[in-house]
Amino acid sequence: MTPRSFLLTAELADYVRASSERPDDVAADLIAETAAMAERGEVPGTMQIAPEQGVFMQLLARALMARQAIEIGTFTGYSALCIARGLAEDGSLLCLDRNAEWTAVARRFWERAGLADRIELRLGDALTTLRGLPAVETFDLAFIDADKTGYAAYVEELYDRMTPNGVVLLDNTLWSGRVLDPRAEDDHALVALNAALATDPRWETVLLPLGDGLTMLRKR
Ligand SMILES: C[S@@+](CC[C@H](N)C(=O)[O-])C[C@H]1O[C@@H](n2cnc3c(N)ncnc32)[C@H](O)[C@@H]1O
Repeated sequence: MTPRSFLLTAELADYVRASSERPDDVAADLIAETAAMAERGEVPGTMQIAPEQGVFMQLLARALMARQAIEIGTFTGYSALCIARGLAEDGSLLCLDRNAEWTAVARRFWERAGLADRIELRLGDALTTLRGLPAVETFDLAFIDADKTGYAAYVEELYDRMTPNGVVLLDNTLWSGRVLDPRAEDDHALVALNAALATDPRWETVLLPLGDGLTMLRKR
């Protein structure tokens, strides 16, 4: 099944998709292969962003004329495919993930899409990798979609690395609605982060009800 927002009925999700740019063959095959892996129980079923969010992120990267981008949490590579496609001609995307098996699927599809030369994947703990990057490495666009308890540290770490007006996107900030009734550690981490970001003077912040909630931060 194609990922869809918990906020939408199946009919509305179809309508949203039909009213947005359609995934091309490579993206559609990647979505289908990931769904098949989920059906076989090889991967969790709810990890991939919804197709309309992919289109939005590609469009945003293009509108920002982003050159350098970073993704924290890559999985089978669909969100990275969208970001990389939106980057300027000489742009590049750095992907951080710790799962070699899932990202092997990503590499295969990036190759097929002709994007392998503009995406670099680094395997390992994302925060350790991020902290180890040279100080001169900066980004116009960042997408955070990994462990929820790590989000606050990723945002802090990224602040100095974002170019002026740089945009950070955080996925799952509505967390299927669990932010209204936090119980688990992930729920509480997202509630605390959402509250902190809403009043953080360093960022212009909006939480968009797209997908599972997509927070957008612009560095002031
Ligand atoms: C929700 S999935 C990413 C989905 C992807 N953005 C997409 O749309 O297809 C989360 C990914 O984060 C990775 N991850 C979680 N915690 C991590 C950490 N501490 N360091 C590196 N990767 C991590 C997982 O291996 C997984 O692939």
